[in-house]
Amino acid sequence: MSTVRRVLLRTYGCQMNVHDSEKITNLLQHHGYQTTAELEDADLLIINTCSIREKAENQLYSDIGRLRAWKQQRPGRLLAVGGCVAQQEGDTVLKRFGHVDFVFGTHNLRLVPSMVAAALQGERETRIDENGSLDRFDLPERHPEFKTRTPGRAFVTVMEGCDMFCSFCIVPTTRGREISRQASAILSEVEALAARGVREVTLLGQTVNAYGRHDLRRAESRKARGAAHDEAETVAFAELLGRIGAIPGIERIRYTSPHPIFFDQALIRAHGELESLCPHVHLPLQSGSDAVLERMRRRYGRGEFLAIVEALRASRSDIAISTDLIVGFPGETDADFRDTLGVMREAAFVDSYAFKYSPRPGTAAADFADVVPGDVAQARLEQLQSLQRTLTLEAHRARVGESTQVLVEGASRRGGRQLTGRDPYHRVVNFEVADATLAPPGSLQPVKLLEATPHSLIGLLALDVSDDEPGPDVRRSVKTSGGRADELIRIGGVPS
Ligand code: SAH
Ligand code: SF4
Ligand code: F3S
Repeated sequence: MSTVRRVLLRTYGCQMNVHDSEKITNLLQHHGYQTTAELEDADLLIINTCSIREKAENQLYSDIGRLRAWKQQRPGRLLAVGGCVAQQEGDTVLKRFGHVDFVFGTHNLRLVPSMVAAALQGERETRIDENGSLDRFDLPERHPEFKTRTPGRAFVTVMEGCDMFCSFCIVPTTRGREISRQASAILSEVEALAARGVREVTLLGQTVNAYGRHDLRRAESRKARGAAHDEAETVAFAELLGRIGAIPGIERIRYTSPHPIFFDQALIRAHGELESLCPHVHLPLQSGSDAVLERMRRRYGRGEFLAIVEALRASRSDIAISTDLIVGFPGETDADFRDTLGVMREAAFVDSYAFKYSPRPGTAAADFADVVPGDVAQARLEQLQSLQRTLTLEAHRARVGESTQVLVEGASRRGGRQLTGRDPYHRVVNFEVADATLAPPGSLQPVKLLEATPHSLIGLLALDVSDDEPGPDVRRSVKTSGGRADELIRIGGVPS
């Protein structure tokens, strides 16, 4: 029997979970593990779970059930459960499933190697303690064997947790309190990534643009009291973006997910001024009805949301805005739903992720009356998705004929000689290339857009664009009008 142990991670949920899985993989590689994509080859299977909707949770339980046979097939195999369901359910997972070896929560990634060692000695434990210190971010650099599915791109955690408590959402429970990393640690990580060829970073946080707000406020109050303070580690989000943009090699910066109320003037201005900040914002709306937003405890109304959209467009005229939407929230009437469709049109979302409301135990909305019947919610979802297809197609059509720049991911699912990647607006671009070695994964390539579909743009590698022609970098044609952006922001500032 080979002595090398192999790990497979199954990941559900958002980018934060995808990145946590990367962190766990990297940690285990530092402890001698290799990765495998095949369940049959795995000695350790880690399921990184999501509990944002009921469906995700049910899926997990049936998955775990099916793994009993896998576990029994070979002695020494381990099965672990981490992520948001683990954080929420804790010990009940171990109690319910005798073949699960250990359970770890969202603050305890660093414990995984020692939990694996303990499990090999026959121990079964659950570790879900919330770690309120910055230690949890002390993770090793990328192992030489570490391979990302997205060459040239990397996620970088800047903050974790959520203090917003929207009435429908389980995340404040599963991810705990907001905590921001020190700017110096983030910058060192990005520098190390750039040195390894990363061109695009996506900054991650549950409310990413709230970055630093608690630390800034604490620093301010210490200053007001005349107490000694250390401001060096505390910067606002827009300032952090600027510092990352100054790191050589970093050509694209993205961030997700921002919360609308944390868009201040500095962040909006950054979209017009910071060359490497991509012209795309994922700005979750949830609902276009003021009454529903109020019950969701989103802390903004339709008018404020649209003001941010307008200010972003004033700062960066070509910005693409995508969103998240929930249909069938308790009490949502036909008129409320029409308001959502109205805001979708006004904001001209390039894309949206729409979900039927799913009650989560322990959240405020789980007890709300006026539950919307399932068939009504389903019909609304379909209507919304149909409007989105129209909006996406319109946005894509408007770009046919343009040149853009694509960060190559690899072969397209459409097969043939097509490659795929994302442009600065985060749109999927599939493009023909005579010789795939001309456009390796992780490289930035000029592509001329020829055709629009509701899912992607289709183009052609445009390596023949001569030096004196305007290059494919669309941002040079952008007009900004910073002053107007400032005027439009009505809800700037950093709320507590
Ligand atoms: N922090 C982000 C959202 C993170 S959760 C924000 O503030 O917008 C990702 C998305 O899942 C949410 O935007 C929401 O649209 C959806 N979601 C969260 N809880 C949900 C629930 N109980 N039912 C249906 N969708 C939900
Ligand atoms: Fe959930 Fe609201 Fe926090 Fe987003 S801001 S993670 S929706 S509680
Ligand atoms: Fe799911 Fe947790 Fe993300 S609940 S959406 S994996 S923060």
